[in-house]
Amino acid sequence: MHNKNAPLTRVERSLAPDELIVTKTDVAGKIRYANRTFYKFAGYTPAECIGVQHNIIRHPEMPRAVFKLLWDTIKGGDEIFAYVNNRAKNGDHYWVLAHVTPNFGANKSIIGYHSNRRAPNHDVIREHIQPLYTQLLKIERSAGSPKDALAAGEKHVLDLLRSKNMSFNELMFALGV
Ligand SMILES: Cc1cc2nc3c(=O)[nH]c(=O)nc-3n(C[C@H](O)[C@H](O)[C@H](O)COP(=O)(O)O)c2cc1C
Repeated sequence: MHNKNAPLTRVERSLAPDELIVTKTDVAGKIRYANRTFYKFAGYTPAECIGVQHNIIRHPEMPRAVFKLLWDTIKGGDEIFAYVNNRAKNGDHYWVLAHVTPNFGANKSIIGYHSNRRAPNHDVIREHIQPLYTQLLKIERSAGSPKDALAAGEKHVLDLLRSKNMSFNELMFALGV
């Protein structure tokens, strides 16, 4: 099912301005629903995705710290906006601007998560996001263990936010979403 060893093609797929990629997951991040645009970009069939961890489309060049921040935020009941590079089954990639939110049940407990993604601003990616993610990857890859890597990446992001006196979402909006 996972195709993590498919070589990267370096071919980019681009969302049209009117295309939205939607998925819903359970509390563990297993895909419960995906729309047709998701399957079109990811290159998987519903049978390959439903019940499977969302990291099925994880791109190896995405820093771990970004996903830690994503999960910490949504598990805390908040929403997050984040630029994410995803890998299609055949090794192509596609950048999105994701808006991820918790779904609440009757007693206000989190019963799952929801993500909507749209075409990102490529100037923002080129000028700000790609340099930040490249730096984070470098920091994470030079750390001793996966645990150290995550801590070092996270520290870099938190230091950056502190220096700007902004939350992650505020920084995303300041850069231009
Ligand atoms: C609603 C929702 C949507 C997600 N969407 C993506 C996504 O589009 N791409 C992605 O790589 N990870 C996505 N994730 C995060 C993955 O669950 C996972 O944390 C990430 O791929 C990192 O995988 P890893 O822990 O194996 O490194 C999403 C999580 C949730 C809850």
